[in-house]
Amino acid sequence: MALDIARRFARQPLGFFPSPIHPLKRLSKELGVEVWAKRDDVSSGLAFGGNKIRKLEFLAADALEQGCDTLVSIGNIQSNHTRQVAAVAAVLGLRCRLVQETWTHWDDPVYDKVGNILLSRLMGAETLLEGEGYSTAVKETWERALDQVRREGGRPYAIPAGASDHPLGGLGYAHFADEVAEQESSLGLFFDTVITATCTGSTQAGMAVGFLAQDRERRLIGVDTAANAEMTRRAVTKIARATADLVGLNRELRDSDIEIDARFAGPDYGLPDEATVSAIRAAARLEGMITDPVYEGKSMAGLIAMARAGEFPRGAKILYVHLGGAPAINAYHKAFA
Ligand SMILES: Cc1ncc(COP(=O)(O)O)c(C=O)c1O
Repeated sequence: MALDIARRFARQPLGFFPSPIHPLKRLSKELGVEVWAKRDDVSSGLAFGGNKIRKLEFLAADALEQGCDTLVSIGNIQSNHTRQVAAVAAVLGLRCRLVQETWTHWDDPVYDKVGNILLSRLMGAETLLEGEGYSTAVKETWERALDQVRREGGRPYAIPAGASDHPLGGLGYAHFADEVAEQESSLGLFFDTVITATCTGSTQAGMAVGFLAQDRERRLIGVDTAANAEMTRRAVTKIARATADLVGLNRELRDSDIEIDARFAGPDYGLPDEATVSAIRAAARLEGMITDPVYEGKSMAGLIAMARAGEFPRGAKILYVHLGGAPAINAYHKAFA
């Protein structure tokens, strides 16, 4: 059973879907396993795109339906998510207010000036630099920003961190699973292993629900990037259960359906380690594919380490999901010095 999300839920088109799938031939040769990439990093013309565009197609439709005039969201200073919210607000003619918290201490004087935050400001978003610490809990800084819009007479639409802990947050990646199944049938192959970065949770949660609906055994590995695998697991599980209810998944979601790998998160959220940096270099030099130090470099490090340790069965067909994030890279130039 495919979930048929595109037909059943209102969706505001914001990207070029389906996003491409292609083989990573040189990386595969280097690792001795067959790896393909699903390129959600190039799935939209909106400010370099990324995984939030897919989720925001459903939230934006809801915001317009409710007559909201301001998108209000929250993330780290170098959040990819808030940059994509800013782009969606711009293209829909809405206002945008973004709480940019300090979720990581990366020592660079331009951290709050270049990359994602520069792009958000260019697109006309108001960026409020306040608040500390990554957590999936509802942040008081975000609630204050929402109140402020109401006091000014606006109609805010509340988008949580990563567009994740929201009733519609899991739909984008449940739809992604339908899309992968269609591409598999036209390519004539099946990916038995899917690797994704995971943090605020709705990317992996949506995929988990969408793939489970397909009744074909496939392993979905979420590489934790929050350096708090238990918090990530709770977030993914909560959103997956809510999404399963919303879409009417015909089986119960079990704890064992959510696989989180804690080994590649580095020292903290937003901080790369040596394995992250070397994975970023490998993807760049072998494939011309740019990954970032916060998310995709960590899932790439996981893929490389698992392949080298022989953790994939012989003949496995692996799909590495690239979720974007490259716009942050200039803020991390010191990692490559
Ligand atoms: C580039 C990138 N990869 C992965 C993720 C993780 O996705 P999620 O927060 O839905 O778990 C994010 C956002 O947090 C991201 O911006």
